[in-house]
Formats: sequence, structure tokens, C-alpha cells
Amino acid sequence: FAACHLLMKLVIRRYRPSDKDTVLTLFSNGVVEQISPCFYNAMTSPLYLSITLGLCAAGYLLGSILGAVVLVGGWVALIYFSCHKLYTHYIREKIRTDMQDIPGNFMTRPDDCFFVAEAEVSGRSQVIGTVAIVAKQSGTERYGELFRMSVSSSCRRAGLASRMTQAVIDFCRERGLPKVVLQTTSTQAAAVALYEKLGFLRIFSQPTLSFPYWMIILNYLPLRYVYYFPLM
Ligand SMILES: CC(C)(COP(=O)(O)OP(=O)(O)OC[C@H]1O[C@@H](n2cnc3c(N)ncnc32)[C@H](O)[C@@H]1OP(=O)(O)O)[C@@H](O)C(=O)NCCC(=O)NCCS
Repeated sequence: FAACHLLMKLVIRRYRPSDKDTVLTLFSNGVVEQISPCFYNAMTSPLYLSITLGLCAAGYLLGSILGAVVLVGGWVALIYFSCHKLYTHYIREKIRTDMQDIPGNFMTRPDDCFFVAEAEVSGRSQVIGTVAIVAKQSGTERYGELFRMSVSSSCRRAGLASRMTQAVIDFCRERGLPKVVLQTTSTQAAAVALYEKLGFLRIFSQPTLSFPYWMIILNYLPLRYVYYFPLM
């Protein structure tokens, strides 16, 4: 019932400057919650499990159980720190650049837009989701790229992201952009399930050179998806 109620009252509209604080909070929260899955993903990979076991054995052989605990503890802390750094650096960088001036960076060209989802939650109208679309060109081909998809953690699994993705698809279709492209990562399980359910296809692409090698060492893989408009 709660989900239907939320969707009935949902409005997807263009961003207004008064939304900025809520939008930045939704963006930061959505990114911060990727730290734990990234850490878990790295620690459970065969490579990292082998290193952990190797350090445990080395610590024990070189000293004592305490040595093993210290070595493994240091290693686990280093991996957590790296995951934390990866995401907090990303948030700082985006808040300093494109999210600093959302109208200027996402809304000046007619084929770009920053949408927010607004609904009545606990008797108050609130912004509970965000998504941006930017028109791009590769050679002669134009397409829309979807960015900044985030839904408030208290409003998940009610179909909000699906509705916002549909709004982006409709926006691109109306502007004659023949496909929608987006990038996510292997650790964003909810996002991967969402886009695959909506008919996005995964494109197998090599990580670009701009992707630092140490991110791949964390078992963190960028994934690209494309949505082609069905033939009429
Ligand atoms: C990914 C995200 C936007 C999904 O928002 P949402 O409003 O909960 O998504 P929807 O309710 O529209 O879900 C549609 C479908 O996606 C899949 N899905 C969504 N969340 C899921 C989850 N946590 N686990 C598994 N599948 C999930 C399901 O198939 C779902 O359909 P169902 O509920 O009928 O099973 C949200 O979890 C989020 O903001 N995450 C943090 C930020 C992020 O990762 N953004 C993506 C950047 S690329």
C-alpha cells in the first residue's frame, strides 16, 4: 500500500535551485552506501582471500597468533580505507565540479536535463529521487547519457527509479536521441538489477585508461549499459 501511495502522489519535474541541499544529500548517501559492497566484494575475491590467508600464516610463522591478527587486521583496514577513499573522493570531486552548479552543467542545453522526483512523505512534499540526462555525440551518432540516479533509502522498491528511467527514455525519444547509455559498477547490485529489468543491455567494454588500476584491483568493475528504442 505504501508503495502505491507513494507512486500515486509522485511528480517528476525539472530541478529547481531550492532542491540543491536535498539533491546533494541524496547523491552523497547513494554513493556512500557503495563502500560496504565494494569492501565485501574485494575481500571475498579469490585473490584477496588468498592474501588474507597468506598473511595469517606468515604472521603466525614469524611471531605468534598476535602477529597474525596484527598483519591481517592491517591488511583488512587498508582495503576498507581504500574503498572509503575511492567513494569519498568521488563525492568531493563531483560536489566541487558538476553538482556545484546543476542548472549550469545539466540544464543549459535543450537536450540535457536534471529531474527530481517529488512526493508527499509523512505529510510533507519532499524530493526523494534524482536523475540527470546529458546529450552526447560519438562520431555521427547522438545519444543520451543517464547520470546521478539516486532514490532516498526510505522510498526504495516502490518503482521510483523505474519511473525516473522511463522519464529519461521519454525525454530522449522526444528529442530524437536514438539510445540511452549509462555507466554503473559491478558492486551496485540494485542498479544492475534495475537496468536489466528495464531492458538495458550490457555493453562489454574494456575499462578506459582514465580508470585507475587500483580500482580494478579492488575488484570494482565499470559496467556500461545501453537502451535502444524498440522499433515501431
Ligand atoms: C538503484 C536504485 C536507484 C533503485 O531505486 P528503486 O526506486 O528502489 O528501484 P525500483 O523500485 O524502480 O526497482 C525496480 C526493479 O529494480 C530491481 N531492484 C531495485 N532494487 C533492488 C535491490 N536492492 N536488489 C535487487 N533488485 C533490485 C528489482 O528488479 C526492482 O523490481 P521489483 O521491486 O519489482 O523486484 C536505488 O537502490 C539507489 O538509489 N541506490 C543507490 C544509488 C545507486 O546505486 N544509483 C545507481 C547509479 S548508476
